[in-house]
Amino acid sequence: MDKEKEDMILTDRQGHPITDNQNIRTVGNRGPSTLENYHFIEKISHFDRERIPERVVHARGAGAHGYFEAYGKVGDEPVSKYTRAKLFQEAGKKTPVFVRFSTVVHGVYSPETFRDPRGFATKFYTEDGNWDLVGNNLKIFFIRDPLKFPDMVHAFKPDPVTNLQNPERMFDFVSNSPEATHMITFLFSPWGIPANYRQMQGSGVNTYKWVNENGEAVLIKYHWEPLKHGIKNLTQQAAEDIQAKNVSHATQDLYEAIARKDYPEWELCVQILSDDEHPELDFDPLDPTKLWDHERFPFLSVGKMVLDRNPDNYFAEVEQVAFGTGVLVDGLDFSDDKLLQGRTFSYSDTQRHRVGANYIQLPINAPKTRVATNQRDGQMTYHVDKAPEQNPHVNYEPSSLGGLKEAAPSGKDHQPMYNDRLVRDKISRTNDFGQAGDTYRKFEDWERDELIHNLVDALKICAPVIQTNMIEHFTKADPDYGRRVAEGLAQAKADHKHLGTSENRDGAEIAEQSGKQTD
Ligand code: HEM
Repeated sequence: MDKEKEDMILTDRQGHPITDNQNIRTVGNRGPSTLENYHFIEKISHFDRERIPERVVHARGAGAHGYFEAYGKVGDEPVSKYTRAKLFQEAGKKTPVFVRFSTVVHGVYSPETFRDPRGFATKFYTEDGNWDLVGNNLKIFFIRDPLKFPDMVHAFKPDPVTNLQNPERMFDFVSNSPEATHMITFLFSPWGIPANYRQMQGSGVNTYKWVNENGEAVLIKYHWEPLKHGIKNLTQQAAEDIQAKNVSHATQDLYEAIARKDYPEWELCVQILSDDEHPELDFDPLDPTKLWDHERFPFLSVGKMVLDRNPDNYFAEVEQVAFGTGVLVDGLDFSDDKLLQGRTFSYSDTQRHRVGANYIQLPINAPKTRVATNQRDGQMTYHVDKAPEQNPHVNYEPSSLGGLKEAAPSGKDHQPMYNDRLVRDKISRTNDFGQAGDTYRKFEDWERDELIHNLVDALKICAPVIQTNMIEHFTKADPDYGRRVAEGLAQAKADHKHLGTSENRDGAEIAEQSGKQTD
């Protein structure tokens, strides 16, 4: 047989050529099957294990490979003034990346048209090891304390008894979490349904730090701005029209654009603030429910990203990729943003469960630099992470017998000073409603109309106490905002009665009362 034909022969995973892939072994051609059918048992038992646990959030996603190209500057200044991270230093320097976009709440096969934040997670395979920037499309978040995250996700997911989605659960949580008012204002506007993944922004949301050669730090927020086709969001109706025909429109859009070489591009921008508490601001710069006003804190570009290659295999790359906020490189650091610190534990913890203890050895997660550790063994160990010259007997450090050595520091360590009581307490400058009001007023008329329409549609089925609380929050953000939601709910109640339907949660009465308070 010629080589080419031989290469196409089907084998099992032990390398045995398969001569019959159609029939299991049986006693006679109608008879009972036998258990020693190695090929069948291997094939079916591997199939039985094809699924791994889906991500607890952000289960539905699409991904692509590409590169990040540095500008060597941050705005007009040399980037080295603020960070020594090598990937940013030289203009034109390219770093390979893998990006996974996602929706948040629903399962792995759910429609991509839902009102939901979109994940925008980027793995930079830098010369100093991997950096993951795990962001969303929106620039803020629902909560500021990580202790609330599991409750928030439970409230947003389907009812544990009926498995039905119900906005009442979400608004029950949100109406008791005033810090979510700003995020809800974005989410129920057209910004809550990006048209696709190529035409949306990204943001690191949390506050990070950059550290320079001297160990001096600044506070940083990261933002991705689409370069080619601008930003596009959908109205609820437009999303429903797409969903009626296609539940994978965003995956398809990304895949097909890359396949036809219309490569999506984003510019990476940062906002910089000095590393202190900023008492002059009416919010805390470590609070992820707040925007840093871009007129006051301009977006400074540091490079651009191009996505130019589709994955070869969805499961191996998009499903098994594992991002985490703890995955930073020299010159990048955490801030004291509490949500960020909680996230940083959560990601690698879930990935050890979801993918396995050796998830970082998988090609999509492994850095493209050398890896030499003394970590050994565990389920599915793929290879030994040792240096070629390392004495293979020495899997510990320190040692004089040919083991691995510590690296020399590449600059001064950033060593912030702490002196305070250990407490359980929220930050002092919560200002839960101010920016929600600013955002409401900055929306265009059609965006505000959509926002009110979408909120009324979701809130009209909620218990009166939830409606009252939400109207109070919206009113505190902007009296017009509260009034319009209250009026919308009153109208919805009247329409409901007019149609003679039986459901009655007294929403209109509550809405009317709240409307009066607003006047
Ligand atoms: C995924 C936890 C807040 C963006 C995840 C996953 C967990 C998690 C457990 C699944 C990871 C996996 O299975 O690989 C948390 C916690 C948070 C939090 C505990 C707050 C305390 C945020 C915020 C953002 C965000 C604020 C946006 C900046 C993402 C993204 C993914 C994700 C984009 C999907 C990553 C991927 O594509 O694989 N999060 N998260 N999360 N989270 Fe968070």
